Amino acid sequence: MNLFDTINKRRSIRRFTEETVPEDVMNKALEMAVLAPNSSNTQTWDFYWVQSGDKKAKLVEACLSQAAARTAAELLVVVAAPKSWQRSQKRLIEWVKSSNAPKPVVMYYEKLIPAMYRWGIFNILGFVRFLIFNLVGLFRPIMRRPATRRDVQEIAIKSAALAAENFVLAMTAQGYATCMMEGFDECRVKRLLKLKCHDRVVMVIGVGKESDKGTWGPRYRLPLSEVVHKV
Ligand SMILES: Cc1cc2nc3c(=O)[nH]c(=O)nc-3n(C[C@H](O)[C@H](O)[C@H](O)COP(=O)(O)O)c2cc1C
Repeated sequence: MNLFDTINKRRSIRRFTEETVPEDVMNKALEMAVLAPNSSNTQTWDFYWVQSGDKKAKLVEACLSQAAARTAAELLVVVAAPKSWQRSQKRLIEWVKSSNAPKPVVMYYEKLIPAMYRWGIFNILGFVRFLIFNLVGLFRPIMRRPATRRDVQEIAIKSAALAAENFVLAMTAQGYATCMMEGFDECRVKRLLKLKCHDRVVMVIGVGKESDKGTWGPRYRLPLSEVVHKV
């Protein structure tokens, strides 16, 4: 299946059959997920493949028992972990140094990333950055984000969402169906997975084989002429 066929074939499937998903199929899709582009290659994401029966039942409940979760053979929770740039920083510095990257790139990872991604106690650093950026921005173009904790979370969410898309396309390419879900109680999911308070649950993805009641009908999209603006 080429990329165009895969994108066309992927639909949000709300009901799955009882067929299981082989572990290597999931592993392959996870390998593809982490190849997604991500902000500064900090890889501020985590993937929770919920396998325990007890946790799965609780997750389904947290997903409001919607059919896409209830009938899924596997459930994957995609999490944005805005502080986990610290997990990769040392290795990224080693990586850029060993790739003979220009000095500014090394500086970027050593100095700029910590300066931009820390929000400080009670978001104080973030608020100071917000004020400085917007003051300077009055006089010249400046990158105004990330300033606050919310901005750093947003960056992590974007990267995690791209990984989620890679994952579902890779499942589609292997003949399995998926449904991305944001219809869940985030507090309950976070508690279940023991996530940190600044982590964000980006998506719960149901995976399985499509049942004959998988979709409500054909795909619908607004015409390109309404959403593409050639300016
Ligand atoms: C961020 C996001 C959240 C979604 N949440 C849900 C959800 O909670 N339940 C559900 O059944 N579908 C959910 N969907 C699937 C969308 O409804 C679906 O992508 C949209 O209707 C377009 O249909 P298609 O995916 O078949 O092309 C979600 C999709 C995205 C991207």
